[in-house]
Amino acid sequence: MSKSAKIIYGDKEVECPVVEGTEGEVGIDISKLRSSSGLITLDNGFANTSSGTSAITFLDGEKGILRYRGISIEDLAKNSSFIEVAYLLIYGNLPTEQELLSWESEIKHHTLIKEDLSKLFDAFPRDAHPMGVLSSAISAMSTFYQEYLDPKNSHDVDQVIIKLLGMLPTIASYSYKTSINQPRVYPRNDLDYCSNFLNMMFSVPSEKYEVPSEVVEALNLLLILHADHEQNCSTSAVRLIGSSEANLFASISGGISALWGPLHGGANQAVMEMLNQIHLDGGNVQKFIDLAKDKNSSFRLMGFGHRVYKNFDPRAKIIKGACDKVLEKMGVDNPLLNIAKELEHSALNDQYFVDRKLYPNVDFYSGIIYSAINIPVNMFTVMFALGRLPGWIAHWKEMNEDPKSRIGRPRQIYNGENEYSYVDLNKRLNKKKAA
Ligand code: SDX
Repeated sequence: MSKSAKIIYGDKEVECPVVEGTEGEVGIDISKLRSSSGLITLDNGFANTSSGTSAITFLDGEKGILRYRGISIEDLAKNSSFIEVAYLLIYGNLPTEQELLSWESEIKHHTLIKEDLSKLFDAFPRDAHPMGVLSSAISAMSTFYQEYLDPKNSHDVDQVIIKLLGMLPTIASYSYKTSINQPRVYPRNDLDYCSNFLNMMFSVPSEKYEVPSEVVEALNLLLILHADHEQNCSTSAVRLIGSSEANLFASISGGISALWGPLHGGANQAVMEMLNQIHLDGGNVQKFIDLAKDKNSSFRLMGFGHRVYKNFDPRAKIIKGACDKVLEKMGVDNPLLNIAKELEHSALNDQYFVDRKLYPNVDFYSGIIYSAINIPVNMFTVMFALGRLPGWIAHWKEMNEDPKSRIGRPRQIYNGENEYSYVDLNKRLNKKKAA
């Protein structure tokens, strides 16, 4: 196959090298395009443009394949733990037993946040959205660990990685406890990662709290499934912020903010609100399918469609399978699960969705499980952030360690006013330009 591509425009003919990835992805390297032709490219939403190479996650949207560092999501969901997957994503290989033990111990011993940072939670309104609290608290961490902010010092970066993985669950649970005016529960180092988070979320100082093992298992699965997804919106935000050599806390805080949007991580909350709306409306699924197809309506089937997956999102398949198991184990009968299944069935048999290759994505069923384990709806996107943290870290680290990395600065096609002179106030006649 040719190792270059030709771009011909008018009397210009530019030959660009072609780059092929280890899974056969082929890209035209246009890094010399402007200097050799004056041309730039335009790609709304970067749907056809790679921001660089990465060895972290491979996904094939047509075949519904997702692998972290070469290991399939199905394999990891069945055999691994979230903490082990975090190590795999960040350091590139599965840890040995000794590496895993020391990794877990390091994280466990960095779960307590500074007492002065705890005061931040009392500054927010009780009804603050926890994603706003989370991004603020992570950014604030940079002020408490000023000695670790050099992105090019690998020892400092490793320290920040441990602090983020250890403290994000504490910060997430503190945002929740503060919002319900309950005492914040300190982390416990005798508990594993998921049990510790659930204990901080749901225990109260006045009672003994046993973390149900089925809940721990369900949470571990959900966190693994959310851990990375190559160059998605929030990960691209983390990489772009980090490309200016901003510190890791600042970059992760930006990733949390990008994830908050309902088209991205905020979709899991929007799915549950949509399913509840359908339930309260009498469960007429077809009415909402028709609404989602109506171009005059802004309503979208939340949890459906994906920029890359034009087949089933493999994560959605795994979560859907886990839903029945978790609800049965928890003795929960959630009518929203039946509505979700009916919605999926109707949409997958509707030409509009078939033509556009719109399938359920990771957010479509995850909320059913979060609800079953008593996570409040406005904390769903926080759960997504907890899962995605190792992926964000891995991409930030990969970019910072890449000698070819440059500050991200896209071009644009300007379509504004051509030059015109300043117009004195008394001559403006309420129009932009003088008559
Ligand atoms: C995540 O990128 C990642 O990897 C993200 C993620 C991750 O792990 O990081 O996988 C997590 O963000 C999953 C996506 C969660 N978002 C939602 O569920 C929100 C609902 N879905 C959509 O808004 C939409 O599908 C997106 C945002 C996910 C993708 O948007 P695109 O790729 O820009 O597609 P588009 O908006 O251009 O849609 C193409 C067509 C349009 O119709 P036409 O103009 O061709 O007639 O499909 C239609 C859209 O109107 N369409 C939908 C739809 N999604 C797309 N119509 C109804 N309901 C929907 N959900």
